[in-house]
Amino acid sequence: MATILITGASRGLGLEFAAQYARAGWRVHATCRDPEAADALNAMAAGAPDTVALHRLDVTDRGQVLALAAALGGEPIDLLLNNAGVYRDQDRAFGNLDYAGWEETLRVNTLGPMRVAEAFVDRVAASARKLIVCISSQMGSIGDTVGGGGSYAYRSSKTALNSVVKGLAGELRDRGITVVAVHPGWVATDMGGADAPLSPAESVRAMRAMIERLAPAASGTFLKYDGSEIPW
Ligand SMILES: NC(=O)c1ccc[n+]([C@@H]2O[C@H](COP(=O)([O-])OP(=O)(O)OC[C@H]3O[C@@H](n4cnc5c(N)ncnc54)[C@H](OP(=O)(O)O)[C@@H]3O)[C@@H](O)[C@H]2O)c1
Repeated sequence: MATILITGASRGLGLEFAAQYARAGWRVHATCRDPEAADALNAMAAGAPDTVALHRLDVTDRGQVLALAAALGGEPIDLLLNNAGVYRDQDRAFGNLDYAGWEETLRVNTLGPMRVAEAFVDRVAASARKLIVCISSQMGSIGDTVGGGGSYAYRSSKTALNSVVKGLAGELRDRGITVVAVHPGWVATDMGGADAPLSPAESVRAMRAMIERLAPAASGTFLKYDGSEIPW
């Protein structure tokens, strides 16, 4: 049975990833900041106690990351899915930027995935599939910036995440680990809003198919949910 660890699984894409991988027969370690409040995730775990395990994990909390890595012991993790993310730029534009919010965005979107990768890399290396997938955003593409300016915190946090992915791909190549950055599309979650054209189910179905096809040669690339490449 293949195993996945997902960050930010309380809602949105993370919750949908947990549901689809559980239905596909994977062992799912679904992590979230506040398990007591994660009603949908609790219901999923209660309905599939042998498949879905729920864990507390704030990706900015070093102690929690290390504690979870210790709790899971030597269990191999085939797919480490760095999904947790925040968008804190609402109503803040040039001239009125929220620097504390920007720092928090970097802690969650950039440092969080790296911290989790460092803590779990040995479990990924011990697995059959050896995949680290970081959910990025097209808004982090410098070469393909949509629109002009705005969302400085979010954009820069995902650009920096992409740089982390590229570095990790090289760093971990000799251990047979494939690392990619993935744009999920514009998706109707709390973050994406109701006008987004893709549902979480559609986006995650496409990303799962793309992840299934990932070969080591793809390591260090920035991919759209449909598998096409996005300029850095
Ligand atoms: N939706 C889109 O259109 C879109 C487009 C491009 C990229 N993305 C990316 O896709 C990923 C998932 O986004 P989404 O649309 O599903 O957003 P969402 O519905 O807002 O969900 C975000 C998730 O991240 C979690 N999270 C936030 N801070 C965290 C932390 N410090 N530690 C652990 N978990 C934390 C949230 O947990 P709580 O419930 O505890 O807050 C929630 O589970 C993000 O990386 C986002 O940047 C989304």
